[in-house]
Amino acid sequence: MRLLIIPFVLIVMGCTNNKGNDPSIDELTALARTSGDEISTLAQKTLGGQLKQAISEQGVTYAVEFCNVAALPILDSLEFAPNAILKRASLRVRNEKDEPTKVERVILEQYAQSLESGGDLSPVVEVLNEREILYAKPILLDSPVCLNCHGQAVSQVAPETLKSIQQLYPNDNALNHKMGDLRGIWSVTFDVAELTNYLKNIK
Ligand code: HEC
Repeated sequence: MRLLIIPFVLIVMGCTNNKGNDPSIDELTALARTSGDEISTLAQKTLGGQLKQAISEQGVTYAVEFCNVAALPILDSLEFAPNAILKRASLRVRNEKDEPTKVERVILEQYAQSLESGGDLSPVVEVLNEREILYAKPILLDSPVCLNCHGQAVSQVAPETLKSIQQLYPNDNALNHKMGDLRGIWSVTFDVAELTNYLKNIK
C-alpha cells in the first residue's frame, strides 16, 4: 500500500484535531482505504456481472451500453459515504468524462510504469486538500470478455459492435488493447468531513 499524503497534511490536521478526540490523518486515510477497497470491489463485480448478463442475453453489440458506471446504483447499498464520488479514469478514454484529473493522470502513469516493470499495483490513497481524500485502484484488462469491445478492431471487436461504439463515441481511444493492459483506474473521492463524522460516531 502506497500512501501519498504530502501537501495538505497540516491543513487537514489543523481542521480535524482541534477537539482532542477528532480522528487523526492516519485514521482518515485508513478509512478511505478500506472503504475505497469495498466500493471499488463492489463496483467492479456489479459491472462485470451486468456486462456478462447483457452479452449472454442479447450479444456484445447490445451490451455496449452496459460498461457504464452511471448505471450502477451501488453507492446506495453502502451504509457509509453516500457522498463519495465514484468514477473511472483512463489514459486512453472511450468516454470523455473519464479523462483523468491531474492527480489521476499521475497515478495512472505510475501504474502504467509499474505494470511494465513488475512493480507495485496496490491501491493509492492521497489527501487532495482539506476537504477531499482520493482512493485509486488499477483496472486491468483481465478477461477475454473485455476484448469484445476494447480489443483489436474487426478481429476481436466485431464490425457491428465497432459501428455502435463509433456512433456513440466518435472520439473513442479505447480499442486495440491486449490482455493484461492497464485499462484505467477506479477513483473514489471521499469527503473529509464525512469520514470525520463517521469515525467520531463509532468511537
Ligand atoms: C460490450 C462492450 C464492452 C465490454 C465487453 C467492455 N467494455 Fe469497457 N467500455 C465500453 C464502453 C461503451 C465504455 C464507455 C462507457 C461510458 O460511456 O461510460 C467503456 C468504458 C470502460 C472504462 C472507462 C474508461 C473509458 O475508456 O471511458 C473502463 C476502465 C473499461 N471500459 C474497462 C473494461 C474492462 C476491464 C472490461 C472487461 C471486464 C470491459 N471494459 C468490457 C464497452 C465495453
